[in-house]
Amino acid sequence: MSEILIDARSVSRSYRLGGVPVAAVVSATLRLHAGDRVALVGRSGSGKSTLLHLMAGLDAPSEGTIAWPALGPRETLLPEKISLVFQAPSLLEPMSVSENVALPLLLAKSAGDIDAAVRAALATFGLEALARKLPEELSGGQMQRVAMARAIVGSPRVILADEPTGQLDQPTGHALLDALIAHLAGTSAALVIATHDPSIAARMDKVWRIEHGVLAESAQTPEPA
Ligand SMILES: Nc1ncnc2c1ncn2[C@@H]1O[C@H](COP(=O)(O)OP(=O)(O)O)[C@@H](O)[C@H]1O
Ligand SMILES: [Mg+2]
Repeated sequence: MSEILIDARSVSRSYRLGGVPVAAVVSATLRLHAGDRVALVGRSGSGKSTLLHLMAGLDAPSEGTIAWPALGPRETLLPEKISLVFQAPSLLEPMSVSENVALPLLLAKSAGDIDAAVRAALATFGLEALARKLPEELSGGQMQRVAMARAIVGSPRVILADEPTGQLDQPTGHALLDALIAHLAGTSAALVIATHDPSIAARMDKVWRIEHGVLAESAQTPEPA
């Protein structure tokens, strides 16, 4: 049985909106294993982003527990072991494409050849020619590919991508996903993609459905003894 990377038990997260509690995620139980390819599917407002942020350790649950058995304590997760691709564009404006992609390696004080790793990550998504551009010179689709290159550059154990194809037309979205899946083939990295596009979900091995903050049965399958 493959390693358990994320183990969430009865995790809830509620926000207060004008004093009124909003339950964004309700008692979610899930296990993410090494090598998993998961689509997290639900309509807008169903809790996908909130759940990904909890899985990344970026946010803490209001109730329940979440642990990263094979990865270690929460403070050590981002960006080395888990990378999170935000739904909203999140490139740093004054930095070039290459510098943006290098960021996780710089933050992790990576000892390896940073330039070579950045070049390889850019090549994965066909971005070599854009290395010196600034984010403001890119199209939305190009920015999304750069954010994806930044997510893979440090070879994290988990990649959580929040609607990475949301702003793209379908062929472009599929090309992005194909490049990512090809890059991860043969590795034990786990991938979770939040999406409301069934054609994207169909390319993943598992589908976790979330509705009004409630995760369907499929994510809860317990580990066989
Ligand atoms: N920072 C926040 N403050 C208050 N409510 C929030 C916040 N973030 C999300 N919500 C609410 O939580 C619910 C789930 O949101 P979200 O996780 O962003 O869903 P999705 O990513 O599926 O669109 C929605 O009702 C949303 O309005
Ligand atoms: Mg969202």
